[in-house]
Amino acid sequence: MAEQLIIDTSANKATKYQTLIPQIEALTHGEADVVANLSNIAAALRQSMNFFWVGFYIVKNNAALADRQELVLGPFQGPIACTRIGFGKGVCGACWKEKKVMLVPDVEAFPGHIACSSDSKSEIVLPAFKNNEVALVLDVDSDQLNDFDSTDEKYLLQVMRMIEQFI
Ligand code: SME
Repeated sequence: MAEQLIIDTSANKATKYQTLIPQIEALTHGEADVVANLSNIAAALRQSMNFFWVGFYIVKNNAALADRQELVLGPFQGPIACTRIGFGKGVCGACWKEKKVMLVPDVEAFPGHIACSSDSKSEIVLPAFKNNEVALVLDVDSDQLNDFDSTDEKYLLQVMRMIEQFI
């Protein structure tokens, strides 16, 4: 497909996701390279939904820590972010540990939240699975309080199921 997204920026959130998701599918279809696909997904989400920060943290072994697993920063769009997150730490680590979507309306109220940017006010983190284990998480941050809801969860989960096809 052409490397251009068609999104009506005046449309409501659900309509934007509905227009975006088939385009993400087309962008990644037939491409097996994980970094390339995650990079384009991060860019497509940020560009079309105007998120403050969107990116992936990938479960990796750390040889320096006797191969203990950590979340390591992957492709993202937005300000620089923390590189490594431990199991159960912050919202991303909680998503990994609990294997479920974390919807955080106010990051200040989330115990252990990791503040990569003081501008980040609310956040949604979703897991992608490989062999029933979390392989990576998608983290989306907003500079507005209470910016994510079940509509974001519904459509971002569709993106996670797409990601599971190529990881
Ligand atoms: N806030 C996240 C850390 C990642 S940054 O927001 C990009 C957390 O608590 O896990």
